[in-house]
Order: sequence, then structure tokens, then C-alpha cells
Amino acid sequence: MRTVLFLLLFSLALLHAQENKSYQKGANLYFANSCGNCHGTNAEGSSYYPRLANRKQKILIKKLQNFKNGIANTQKQEIMFTFAKPLSPQDMKDITYYLSHFKKENTDKYKVEDDLLGVDY
Ligand code: HEC
Repeated sequence: MRTVLFLLLFSLALLHAQENKSYQKGANLYFANSCGNCHGTNAEGSSYYPRLANRKQKILIKKLQNFKNGIANTQKQEIMFTFAKPLSPQDMKDITYYLSHFKKENTDKYKVEDDLLGVDY
């Protein structure tokens, strides 16, 4: 009985570590592929770009696969073709894992400091 319990806890811990890795990889991919430039630093979207944070992972993956395969319902969606193309199936899994489990507190490090606002370069 103790062995069973130990194995159960051990596999839960492994699963948790795996998911944390996916979240972190997804976050990196999200910013490295400029997704945040349109969909927002917090994946919150805007009046023009859809929100991606805390949406169903299955739906997000399906949409990305379609975009990668050149399938869109509107001309506006075709903007996504360029951005979906370089993503591997694993990238899509990680990005959508990140988005569907989005936690706002994790993005504080990207906040712009007040001092930097209004500076002319
Ligand atoms: C140049 C701006 C731009 C960038 C960069 C961009 N997107 Fe998009 N994204 C769009 C537009 C426009 C749509 C289509 C909105 C619509 O259907 O009206 C869209 C749609 C989507 C959708 C479908 C959402 C829905 O509700 O239908 C997903 C998922 C998505 N983008 C993910 C991403 C990911 C992941 C990245 C980075 C790899 C990314 N986008 C980069 C502009 C962008």
C-alpha cells in the first residue's frame, strides 16, 4: 500500500514538473514569435486582436493548425498564416498550454517602468 502511494505521488510530481516546463517553454515561444505584439503581453487581446488567455487549449491548437495549413475563414485571419507557419506541433502544444493556463502574476517582469515612459530616443 505504501509503495502504491509513493508511486502515485511520484508520478504526480513528475507530471507537475512536465507541465511547468511546458508553461515556461510556451511563454518563451509566445514572446519569441511576437504573438504578444498583437495579442498583448497578457494575451488579453484588444478591440482588433482576439484574447487568447484562458481559452480552451483544444480550440487554440485547432486554429493554429488550420492557420499553418493555410485555412482561414476570413481575410483578417490570414494575417496569422505567417506566424503559425514556423511553429512545430510541439511548439503549438507548449504555446497553447501556456495560454490556456495563463497566470497574470507571471508577466509582471515585462511591465514597463514608469521612468521609461515618455522618454525620447
Ligand atoms: C500581426 C499581428 C498578429 C500576430 C503577431 C499574431 N497574431 Fe494571432 N491573430 C491575429 C489576427 C488578426 C487574428 C484573427 C482575428 C479574427 O479572427 O478576427 C489572430 C487569431 C489568432 C488565433 C485564433 C483566435 C480566435 O479566437 O479565433 C490564435 C489561436 C492566434 N491568433 C494565436 C497566435 C499566436 C500563438 C501567435 C504567435 C505565434 C500569434 N497569434 C501572432 C493577429 C496576430
